[in-house]
Amino acid sequence: ACSVIPEPWRFDCYPERGVVVTKEMCEARNCCFIPASSSLPPSRRNGIPWCFYPQEFPSYSLVSLNDTSLGQKGQLVREVKTYYPGDILNLELEIRHETDTRLRVRITDPSNSRFEVPITVPNATEKAESPAYTVELSKEPFGLIVKRKNILICNLNTTVAPLFYADQFLQFSSSLPSQFIYGLGEHRSSFLHDVQWNTLTMWARDEMTNLYGAHPFYLAMEEGGNAYGLFLLNSNAMDVVLQPAPAVTWRTIGGILDFYIFLGPDPGSVIEQYQEVIGFPAMPIYWALGYHLCRWGYGSSNATWEVVKKMRNSGTPQDAQWNDIDYMNHFMDFTFDPANFATLPDLVKDLHAHDQRYVMILDPGISSTQAEGSYWPYDEGLRRGVFINDSDGNTLIGKVWPGLTAYPDFSDHVTHEWWYDNLKSFHEKVPFDGLWIDMNEPSNFLDGSTKGCPSNSLENPPYTPGVLGGLLRGKTVCASAQHKHSLHYNMHSLYGLMEAKASRIVGKRPFVISRSTFPSHGMYSGHWLGDNRSHWKDLYTSIAGILTFNILGIPLVGADICGFSEQPQEELCVRWTQLGAFYPFTRNHNAIDMKPQDPTAFSSLAGTAMKQALLLRYSLFPLLYTLFHHAHVHGHTVARPLMFEFPNDTKTYGIDRQFLWGSGLLITPVLDPGVNYVVGYFPEGLWYDYYTGNSVRSKGEDMRLPAPLDQINLHLREGTITPTQTPNLTLWVSSGQPLHLVSALSEDGSASGDLFWDDGESIDTYETNQYAYIVFSVSQVKYLATLTVSAVLVTSDLLHNHAPICSLRSADANLMVIPKTHRKTWGDKAFSVAAPSLWKFPYLITF
Ligand code: NOJ
Repeated sequence: ACSVIPEPWRFDCYPERGVVVTKEMCEARNCCFIPASSSLPPSRRNGIPWCFYPQEFPSYSLVSLNDTSLGQKGQLVREVKTYYPGDILNLELEIRHETDTRLRVRITDPSNSRFEVPITVPNATEKAESPAYTVELSKEPFGLIVKRKNILICNLNTTVAPLFYADQFLQFSSSLPSQFIYGLGEHRSSFLHDVQWNTLTMWARDEMTNLYGAHPFYLAMEEGGNAYGLFLLNSNAMDVVLQPAPAVTWRTIGGILDFYIFLGPDPGSVIEQYQEVIGFPAMPIYWALGYHLCRWGYGSSNATWEVVKKMRNSGTPQDAQWNDIDYMNHFMDFTFDPANFATLPDLVKDLHAHDQRYVMILDPGISSTQAEGSYWPYDEGLRRGVFINDSDGNTLIGKVWPGLTAYPDFSDHVTHEWWYDNLKSFHEKVPFDGLWIDMNEPSNFLDGSTKGCPSNSLENPPYTPGVLGGLLRGKTVCASAQHKHSLHYNMHSLYGLMEAKASRIVGKRPFVISRSTFPSHGMYSGHWLGDNRSHWKDLYTSIAGILTFNILGIPLVGADICGFSEQPQEELCVRWTQLGAFYPFTRNHNAIDMKPQDPTAFSSLAGTAMKQALLLRYSLFPLLYTLFHHAHVHGHTVARPLMFEFPNDTKTYGIDRQFLWGSGLLITPVLDPGVNYVVGYFPEGLWYDYYTGNSVRSKGEDMRLPAPLDQINLHLREGTITPTQTPNLTLWVSSGQPLHLVSALSEDGSASGDLFWDDGESIDTYETNQYAYIVFSVSQVKYLATLTVSAVLVTSDLLHNHAPICSLRSADANLMVIPKTHRKTWGDKAFSVAAPSLWKFPYLITF
C-alpha cells in the first residue's frame, strides 16, 4: 500500500527536526518508510519525506451529524491513539455557512475549553442563502471537501491525510487546486510561494527564519482565474508545509482548529472577505504617506536637526523626522538623553512650525534596575501589576537595550492605561506625533529570562515547529510565562498586535509603525519589513514583502529604503529611493555606525534624482490617499500585484518585480546595478508612459524600457483617471495646490477615476460623513471630450459653506483635448472647477 503513494503526495509522518529517521523509528509510528528517489537526505524538512502516512493511518470518524441554524454540527471520534501525547479522542465539528462567499469550520474539544485567539470576528446569525460553495463530508475516515459550486474545483480536501488533534499537536492537510499560493507571512521570499517541500514557520521572532509577524492566511489561484483564500484563526507556533502535489499541511501546537474559506471569486474579493473577518485597515493620517527620514545613531538632537535643515535647503520633500533608541536616556522608554538630546523639544517645535512631524521609537522592555523612585514607568508598572510574570508568578526579567527589563503584558487593560499615562506624560515634554514600536515579538537578548525557563511541556512541547534555534523561548520570553489573558505559549505572536492596540494617542488618527504583526493589525498600525541589508537582492525582495502585507490587510507597509545594515552605493540608494517612493509607507532608515544615507548625503546628481522621485510621490498623493480610503472601506490593496487586475493572465501570477498602485498605475523599478534599461511585463491593453503620454499597445508581453538613473518607469493603464497635485516640501503645503486629472483614454475613448478627500487627520471622517468623494469620467468623441464630475458625497457643511460645490453635483463640461490618435490625453488646456476640500479649499481641478 505504501508504494502506491506518489512522492508529491507523501504527507510527513516524522516532521521532528534534527533526527535521522530510520525504518524502525518510522514503523514504530505505523507509517510507510521508502527512501525518496532523489538524492535528498532522509526526512529533511525541505525534501521529500521518507516516512509518510499510509492511506489507512487511523484518523477520526464522523459519528453523528445534525443541522443547525448556520449549517451543521457533528461529533468526531478517534479510536486509535496517535504517537503524540494528549490525543483528544472526542471532538465537536461545526460548519457555519456564514455568507455566500465565507465558510467557517470549527473543530473544538467539547469537554474542555481550549485557547482561542482574542480578536473580534463577525458573529454570523443567519445561514448563507445561496453559497458559492458546497460542503461534502467523508465519515470514515473523517474528511471535509469544499468545492466551488458549479465549477466543482476542490478548494479543500482534507481526506488526503489523517487529522491530528492532540493537546499540543493539531494537524490537517489538504490538496490545493494549483501551485499558485500567496500570503502566509512573515517570511522573506518571493511573492509567489515555492511549493517544492517548503515549510513556512510562524512564531514571531527577531531573526530571519520565522520573522517578526505571524499570518496564517493564504490566497490561492484555481485553474481558470478564480481565487480563494483560507485563514486558520490560530496564534500558536505552527508550520505550514507546501508540497508539490500540490497540497498544504497546517501543523500547530495549540489552540483549536478554526478556519475560514473565502470564495472570492477574484483575488481582490478574497482579500476583502478576509478583512471582513479580521477588520479593515485604519485610514492613515495624511502625513503618514509623506517621506519619513530616520536612522539609528544621529547621536544628538542637533545632528538630527541638521539633516532636517539640509533636506529643507535642498528642496527635498519630508513630512516626518524620526529618532531611534539613541534619543533615550540609557535606552529607557519615556526618557530622553538630557545631554545629547537636550534640544529635542525645540527640534519637535521647529518641525511643527514647518508642517512636519516627529516620530520616535519605543521598545516594550522596561528597565527594571533603576533606583526605586527614579523611574516611574517601572515603579508604577509594578504597583499596577502590568508586567508579564514567569510561571512562578514573579515579574519575568529579560534583557534588551537598557539592560535588564520587564515586559508589559498588553493583554490587560490596566497595562493599556499605564502605557497611555506614560505616553501622555512624555508627550507633555516632547510633543511627538507618532510611534515606532520595535522589538515587540517580544525580543529578548536572553533565551527566556534571567532565570532561564522551567522544564515542562510548554517549553519543550512534543513537537516544536521550525523556529530558529529549535526553542520557543529562543530570543524571547519563556513560553510558560503568564499574561493575564493566557500563557505566553498562546499569546506570543499576538504581542505586537496587543502593543499596537495600546499605542494610541487620542485626538487625531494615531500613527503607529510596528515590527511584529498578526491578523487585524492593520486596524491599529502599519508595518515596516524590519532589518534588511543595502543589497540589490533586498531591494528586490522588498516588493514581495510589500505585496504580501497588502494582501494581509496591512497596506501601510514599507522597507528600510537604501537598506538598514551595510553601506549602500549611491546607485543602489537612488534606485531604492525611486522604488521606495512607491512603497505605501516610505521611510529611509539605517543602522548605527553606517554612513548617512539620506538624500542629501550623496552627489548632487543622486540627490536630485531622489528628490524628483519623492516629488513625484507627493504629486500622486491624491491618488494614494484615495487608494487608502478604498483599503479602509473595502479592504482593497494599495500596492497591488498585477495578478489582482489580470487574474486570467497566468503570466502575471509570479510577478514581483513590478506592481501597481490601485488598478491603473504600473511601476517598473530598476532592481539591478549598472543598467540603463529595464524589462517589464505589460498585460494586454494600452499603456501610457506617465511622463510623455506616449502609448504602447501590448499583447501581453515583456517590454524593454529605457531606464536612466534619474527616472523610474511609470505607466498608466487605459481607462483610468489619476488625480495628481503640484508637489511641495510637505503634504500639508502640497494639498493647497491645484489638482490635475491625468486621463488615460481607453481604445474607445473613455476613462474614469475618483478622489476621496477629507481633512486628513480627524478620526472616522468617512464613518461620520465628513468627506468628499468625487467620481470623474471622460468620454471622447472625435475631437471633443466631455468630463463629467459627480460628487457622490459632499458633506452638507461643505455644501453650505462653499456654494460652488453645488455645481459639482453633476457638472458636465465640454473641453478640447489633444486627439486620441496622438495618445496624449492631458495638456494645459484647462477646465477647472472648485472641488470640495475640508482640508484646503478650494481645490482646482484642471484638465
Ligand atoms: C531593531 C530594528 O529592527 C531597527 O530598525 C532599529 O534600528 C534597531 N532595533 C535599534 O532600535
